[in-house]
Amino acid sequence: MRNVTKVFSNGTLALKDMSLDVKGGEFISLLGPSGCGKSTALRIIAGLGAPSAGSIDWPSSKINTKGLPDGDVGFVFQDLTLMPWASVFDNVHLPLKLRGVSKADARERIMEGLDSVGLADFAKSYPRELSGGMRMRVSIARYRHAAQAAADG
Ligand SMILES: Nc1ncnc2c1ncn2[C@@H]1O[C@H](COP(=O)(O)OP(=O)(O)OP(=O)(O)O)[C@@H](O)[C@H]1O
Ligand SMILES: [Mg+2]
Repeated sequence: MRNVTKVFSNGTLALKDMSLDVKGGEFISLLGPSGCGKSTALRIIAGLGAPSAGSIDWPSSKINTKGLPDGDVGFVFQDLTLMPWASVFDNVHLPLKLRGVSKADARERIMEGLDSVGLADFAKSYPRELSGGMRMRVSIARYRHAAQAAADG
């Protein structure tokens, strides 16, 4: 990230001149007080919002105030956005469903995703039947396997 600044339409300055280098394989945590701009930065990195100024250089492309990354980015939202009416299995299926992958074709991948977060036994449960941490792991399984599927083509 090179001098990324974000000013929202209501005038809020959410990020100012943020620069950050992340190397392949690095695990980075952003720490800071509530409202300091962490989610704003992550959304911009994921291409879910454009910077007002500055740019992001991906290994294969450059995004600027208009562009989006062409890489595949998994994103676990701070609000989990789980569908309360759908089972854990169906929630994890969602990103693949949106790519046109049927439940039957996605089954193995979904179960691997759930297994990776220790929730293979809860595929038929509903979000309301899980603890907060378990719900967070469903959300992680959902975006983790979606990113993997995208990487596999
Ligand atoms: N869509 C928006 N429109 C206007 N202001 C926004 C918008 N999203 C965030 N903000 C403002 O931008 C600032 C940074 O918000 P952001 O969500 O990035 O904070 P955060 O560091 O993720 O906080 P938290 O730790 O509470 O999740 C805050 O002042 C917030 O009010
Ligand atoms: Mg946040």
